Amino acid sequence: MSHLFSPLTIRGVSFKNRIAVSPMCQYCAREGVPDSWHYVHYGSRAIGGAALVMTEATAVSPEGRITAGDLGIWNYGQMQKLREIVEFIQGHGAVAGIQLAHAGRKGSHREPWNGGTQLLSSEEGGWKTVAPSPIPWGENKEAPVELDKAGIEKVKADYAAAIRRAIAAGFKVLAFHFAHGYLVHEFLSPLSNRREDDYGGSFENRIRLLVEIVQMARDIWPAELPVFIKISATEWTQGGWELADSVALAKIVKDLGVDLVDCSSGGNIAHATIPLSPGYQVPYSAAVRNTGVLTGAVGLITDPHQANQIIASGQADLVSLARQLLRDPYFPLRAAFELGQDVPWPVQYQRAK
Ligand SMILES: Cc1cc2nc3c(=O)[nH]c(=O)nc-3n(C[C@H](O)[C@H](O)[C@H](O)COP(=O)(O)O)c2cc1C
Repeated sequence: MSHLFSPLTIRGVSFKNRIAVSPMCQYCAREGVPDSWHYVHYGSRAIGGAALVMTEATAVSPEGRITAGDLGIWNYGQMQKLREIVEFIQGHGAVAGIQLAHAGRKGSHREPWNGGTQLLSSEEGGWKTVAPSPIPWGENKEAPVELDKAGIEKVKADYAAAIRRAIAAGFKVLAFHFAHGYLVHEFLSPLSNRREDDYGGSFENRIRLLVEIVQMARDIWPAELPVFIKISATEWTQGGWELADSVALAKIVKDLGVDLVDCSSGGNIAHATIPLSPGYQVPYSAAVRNTGVLTGAVGLITDPHQANQIIASGQADLVSLARQLLRDPYFPLRAAFELGQDVPWPVQYQRAK
């Protein structure tokens, strides 16, 4: 059996292979509610053979959205529509996961196809963003409002409510977007966190919000279901969050009940240069995996043999594919064929196999 198509069980959840749909914002929800686009988008990837279909970043509060089109899970109506999608995904052999997110200072933007620039006023449809410190993300970006203690407590309460709704929607994997310069990552990095209270300064203080969210999640989320986190393993910037920090964090969250760390990079420093090449973030996954936690590798993984090799060599437990699964939702079925692996196809498609 190819390594890519070997099953994996985490707690009480079985994954039929090692391919996950990496979260990808679609920016077309209305008031955070998914519609037929999301149903078809996620449904296609489920029948395409991925073991895990993860939602895009799903905001825990309206102000936690990147754009007005982000998915949300801050109310009952959003949860109900998500549940329909979850039922379809899980009715077709894939596991449904939800990525919870808060955009922090990277909120209040136009959709990429509308320029992707920040909406600087409420007349334009924008909103005030929040962050650990009032440092704008880059040029032509607004300074966010520094969260006070009450603001931090509200963020935590929003996460707690969202986790309860994710259970009601039937998700089997709970994932947190702690990467790419969004709110929790902003707390982690000394470049975006200049606080002088319990949430800033030392490593222990900068990871405090993350730790508190994870502890809360493990209290609320069923013990038989996995919790994943996605981090930026490095910021590619001197003085920023580095791989050594990620390794130290992985040891801590593993003991708190996090099952898998998805290892991405960058996103918090607008001017950072990232040397892109196939599988360029895989070494981060391998380094974090040495702590004993399961890992996901993500970033420019596009080929079945490359993906198989990442699992076979023990550099990751899952591969998360984003753009390749936009190009080809049936990539897992094609990968199985290329690796000589017989996997079941949807019965409706069997005559094409
Ligand atoms: C359209 C698009 C939307 C994305 N949205 C998210 C997101 O919501 N959450 C997230 O963690 N990463 C997001 N990403 C990043 C991907 O999950 C992934 O980390 C990155 O694209 C590298 O993987 P790839 O080379 O397979 O595309 C997005 C990427 C794309 C292309």
